[in-house]
Amino acid sequence: MRVVTLSTEDDFEGWRDAARGLAQARVPASEILWQVGETPIDLFADEAVMPPAAPRALKVPRAFLDLAQSAILHSDPERFALLYALLAGDPHRIADQADPLVRRLEAMAREVRRDIHKMRAFVRFREVRDALPFPGTGEPNTRYVAWFEPSHHIVRANARFFVERFANMRWSILTPELSLHWDTETLSEGPGATKADAPGEDPVEDIWKTYYASIFNPARLKTGAMLKEMPRKYWKNMPETALVRELVAGARQRETAMVASAIRPGGNIEGAWQALREEAAHCTRCDLYRHATQTVFGEGPVDARMMIVGEQPGDQEDLAGRPFIGPAGEMFDKAMAAAKIDRAAVYVTNAVKHFKFEPRGKRRIHSKPDAGEIQACRWWYEQERLLIKPEITVALGATAARQLLGKAVTITATRGWPIELPEGGLGWVTIHPSFLLRLPDRSKAEDEFAAFVEDLKGAAKMLA
Ligand code: URA
Repeated sequence: MRVVTLSTEDDFEGWRDAARGLAQARVPASEILWQVGETPIDLFADEAVMPPAAPRALKVPRAFLDLAQSAILHSDPERFALLYALLAGDPHRIADQADPLVRRLEAMAREVRRDIHKMRAFVRFREVRDALPFPGTGEPNTRYVAWFEPSHHIVRANARFFVERFANMRWSILTPELSLHWDTETLSEGPGATKADAPGEDPVEDIWKTYYASIFNPARLKTGAMLKEMPRKYWKNMPETALVRELVAGARQRETAMVASAIRPGGNIEGAWQALREEAAHCTRCDLYRHATQTVFGEGPVDARMMIVGEQPGDQEDLAGRPFIGPAGEMFDKAMAAAKIDRAAVYVTNAVKHFKFEPRGKRRIHSKPDAGEIQACRWWYEQERLLIKPEITVALGATAARQLLGKAVTITATRGWPIELPEGGLGWVTIHPSFLLRLPDRSKAEDEFAAFVEDLKGAAKMLA
């Protein structure tokens, strides 16, 4: 067993140098014990890391180094060994998104990046004034002190950001693992601290609160994600969270007010729809935005009498930013033409506006949105409905039907007849065109296609 002792929890260089030597010497991952600390605790018969007799060339893709630099900051003690296993095996496996080891490390790197982002977003300085003025200038000796509890070992990696952002302030960031101190010229490190070492309420809080209220954008509001992004452990350190309840309550009202004013006689529906589409492009109400290329908003005339709702964009829709243009879209267009419905006169949208998928090699395999994702997207769907006010809404498949009716239903029980909707207008449920693409039996596929066309015709008849 070989023991590698890294100097700190985030000692990327130490890990990289040791890992390189060990991998060149072809030492298997199972024979290495990674530890952090000043004094190596070597419980095993130790063999020093010897330089290899004939070092093998070790070519590491850039993507591997990027991944390692983030993943090494994760709090999971296994991270050093997992990264080494990938390095010593074949670091080019990193291109295989379906590889379980790569996925695990990617997930770690993602969590680290989120933690870095959280620290940047949620560190709040409190003002501390020393009784004595600043030596030399006689100005008040003011320092700003913040307390932060990261989930991973990200504090040092984040130091540069705070130095650049708050270059002219004297500040300290205290965390359980280490503290950072900036005196406007030099950054120094100190030992970890406790919350009790940081000051409590202070006058700067009012400034933060005013600032926060002014940047608060109701259209970007997603309460669930806000709680997720800003777990309670951060809330307690942030003065502006005192404002959140009030702002949340006002936000929905303001957004709804924009749509409400547009739908009044003479209101600018097209303008409100454009604004809504633009806001949806930045939607983070659920996690699907993280991997999708873009939001695929509905399209069609804002005075359309018929609205068609699909499930979610597919691979091609995600890339193009338009609904129903891939294989399911072709089938949909064929059925619409057979039912003599002009797609250009219909508003076409989806219950969920980001593509959800599982990466498999180079392919992105469609994955069904869950109830939480459907619910998170309901907001956009409702605003679209308020603006378009369709006389009839056709739901294609179970996800769309769930959005249409506000509850889970089966297609068999709801298909092919008009359903009065509480907000006005009629609903009509039918199959999703991708169902037709999956039918192996040709004559069954033809029958099902004909039934789909009949459903569409039935819905169109309601308009007459
Ligand atoms: N499937 C859908 O439900 N919607 C699309 O936009 C494409 C495929």
